[in-house]
Amino acid sequence: MSSDAVIATNDDATICKRSAVDMGYWKDEALASLVLSKTRKTPEINRGYFSRVASIYRLVEKFLRMSGKCQIVNLGAGFDTLFWRLKADGHHLDCYVEIDVSPVTSKKIAKIRNSKALLTGIVSGESGDDIEFNVSDLHSQHFHIVSADLSNTLQVEAKLKKCGVNYGLPTLFLSECVLVYLDTPSSDSLLKWITSSFESCFFVNYEQVNLDDKFGAVMVRNLHSCGCVLAGIDSCKDKPSQTLRFLNSGCTGAHIWTLNEVYDGLPREDIERIERLEFLDEKELLVQLLEHYCLCTAWKDPKKFGFDEIDFK
Ligand SMILES: C[S@@+](CC[C@H](N)C(=O)[O-])C[C@H]1O[C@@H](n2cnc3c(N)ncnc32)[C@H](O)[C@@H]1O
Repeated sequence: MSSDAVIATNDDATICKRSAVDMGYWKDEALASLVLSKTRKTPEINRGYFSRVASIYRLVEKFLRMSGKCQIVNLGAGFDTLFWRLKADGHHLDCYVEIDVSPVTSKKIAKIRNSKALLTGIVSGESGDDIEFNVSDLHSQHFHIVSADLSNTLQVEAKLKKCGVNYGLPTLFLSECVLVYLDTPSSDSLLKWITSSFESCFFVNYEQVNLDDKFGAVMVRNLHSCGCVLAGIDSCKDKPSQTLRFLNSGCTGAHIWTLNEVYDGLPREDIERIERLEFLDEKELLVQLLEHYCLCTAWKDPKKFGFDEIDFK
């Protein structure tokens, strides 16, 4: 089970996203209902979060376009608002599941219950679309939040069953800064269970990479000093270690980009727009920071459902 320090990483991620949204990096109507406190982060942090959120969104949109009827499972979703952003952009989502530990899911559900805007996003308007709540789980026709420990595969399986997940549909698994908090045997057994249970799956994993160098060592030390242990650090050593864990868990292919490569690969007009938002004189720190995060995709049998590899570009 996650420590309080790991759970608190969700607050940090949410506050950073709010900072970038408030500065105009991207639009997110749902976020203000989930995080009230405003903290202005540095341009490097805001640009890093923009690259992360924009590239993940592009991958998810492509997956939705290419796979037809499909599912999304957001592992360690925290206060992420992807479901509401996709809905606001007119995407129909058949089954979208968020998983996190109960202290996080219960806080998010309490906020949803108190927010008309968030509730409206969940209710599809079809008859009988009641939302079923308990303290830490929420079920509606197309959207679910469930509490489970990702290192307990049986628990995850039981919760996905309650969401009516279909193992024959193409399914995207998103893990955004999550697997690094699971020890390697736990994340390996989760990934193996997914690839052996789902006929066709596509992973989008965003997290730290190149932690073996000096800058990486400082990042790890800073997290340790907050009591946050990176139990899955072995897979974050470099690019090969990030992709290998997927290939060793039953995926048939994988691709990885550092965030510098993501930044350079995003549409020029988007980058030119965000670079006008805040002045950044010296790019060295940004480049260092982006070299220590990566976007990794991995897949099993996507051809069966009409697509091959998906690129964020
Ligand atoms: C850095 S936050 C990221 C949240 C969200 N994915 C985002 O990017 O905004 C990490 C999240 O992973 C969750 N998490 C860590 N270990 C977990 C576990 N064993 N089971 C379920 N969730 C876990 C934490 O509770 C937290 O919400």
